[in-house]
Amino acid sequence: MNAPWKPNAGNRDAFAAYLCDDASLDVLRPVIIEMGWQPEKCNKGGLRNAVQSLSISASPNILLVDLSESGDPLNDINALAEVCEPGTVVIATGQVNDVRLYRDLVASGIHDYLLKPLSPGQIRDALAQAQAIFSAPKHHDASAVKQHISTAVVGTRGGVGASTLVTSLAWMFSADNKLPTAMLDLDIHFGTGALSLDLEPGRGLTDAIDNPSRIDGLFIERAMIRANDHLAILSAEAPINSPLMTDGSAFVQLEEEFRQAFEMTMIDLPRNMLINFPHLLTDVNVVVLVTEMTLAGARDAIRILSWLKANAAHAQVIVVANKVMPGVGEISKADFEASIERKINFSIPYDIKAASNAAKLGQTFADANRSSKAGNVMRDIGKAILGASDVEAGAPAVAGAKKSLLGKLDFKSMMPAKKDKKAPVSAKN
Ligand SMILES: Nc1ncnc2c1ncn2[C@@H]1O[C@H](COP(=O)(O)OP(=O)(O)OP(=O)(O)O)[C@@H](O)[C@H]1O
Ligand SMILES: [Mg+2]
Repeated sequence: MNAPWKPNAGNRDAFAAYLCDDASLDVLRPVIIEMGWQPEKCNKGGLRNAVQSLSISASPNILLVDLSESGDPLNDINALAEVCEPGTVVIATGQVNDVRLYRDLVASGIHDYLLKPLSPGQIRDALAQAQAIFSAPKHHDASAVKQHISTAVVGTRGGVGASTLVTSLAWMFSADNKLPTAMLDLDIHFGTGALSLDLEPGRGLTDAIDNPSRIDGLFIERAMIRANDHLAILSAEAPINSPLMTDGSAFVQLEEEFRQAFEMTMIDLPRNMLINFPHLLTDVNVVVLVTEMTLAGARDAIRILSWLKANAAHAQVIVVANKVMPGVGEISKADFEASIERKINFSIPYDIKAASNAAKLGQTFADANRSSKAGNVMRDIGKAILGASDVEAGAPAVAGAKKSLLGKLDFKSMMPAKKDKKAPVSAKN
């Protein structure tokens, strides 16, 4: 909240509340006494009373206001912003259980929204958080520039687990790190982003493709499906008889809107979309390339890595081997790394029990299997994305691996007899 023109910032109370009903005040007062604040600062009256009082007195450090009697909460909150001094942490309360209202309130500078009936625990938590925020060092200009990390997850082949990873990462960023996260599933016909979260995809993405000019903040607010408090997804299950009719502008526009509205964007980017819409990677910060350690996986990892070097050199690339089975891979890790001429950054073990558990629970793989090795590796991948600079871009090539292993491998021992004559595959696109 911000009324920078107001004088007397030195004389502020730690806390004040304006609540409409006695029941809420009765729950609040003991908590306020516990916190060492003055119970007489718990006033009867809602948001309008708060605006009136604060227009003639100094605002407190933390303010709790009741929206119950406000016909137009957003408008009234703006009036409050006019009279509140900089730094005031405002918590709202009310009876309306509506995520959109919540998001609008947060966007207008409200720190939190407590749904009535109030409980002591809920108030305690909210006030403790507000206090921490009030006393945290303020980096005004730095914090005004919103950080955003946009990550595309691409599979080298079908079924390697790209979607499993993207949904898991999106869930972790949103549920564990509490980062506002958007997930865009660009597997328009066969996407599993919504399915793995046990949600219906809705029409949002289809509408966006049909009417790219309509895409703005309000559109994504309405069109996205909420998966948890901090995760919104956009996906489709387009009918199989309707081909994708787009020049890709809708996707770029969506990416742009996500950058404004969220802190993380996770894109499930099928490799064919990479071919059709290369500009989708223009502003992506991290590309996670998921592969299995197979011959075909190695060939396509080489081709996609080479493409990325030429077309998205700005993006940090993280190579992930998935469904890894110790000792029984088609190609060993060392050979795979030599062939792609760089390290695999993370290896996720094959874990069919974990996959089946996720399917049964209707949860993402990592969420459903928090103590599994596979889930833990996914968490490490999440950390690498959050601190993208910790993973070296284009991790070092394997020592001595000058030439693609696929060119050197004895194909005769790996392929059926009829394919013996096939020329070795090279790193061309
Ligand atoms: N580490 C793993 N262990 C066991 N099963 C896994 C693992 N990772 C993914 N799976 C399973 O593999 C299957 C394919 O995964 P997913 O749909 O994520 O792959 P994809 O690369 O997105 O496929 P598509 O090419 O169809 O988009 C799913 O049934 C998933 O549960
Ligand atoms: Mg997929």
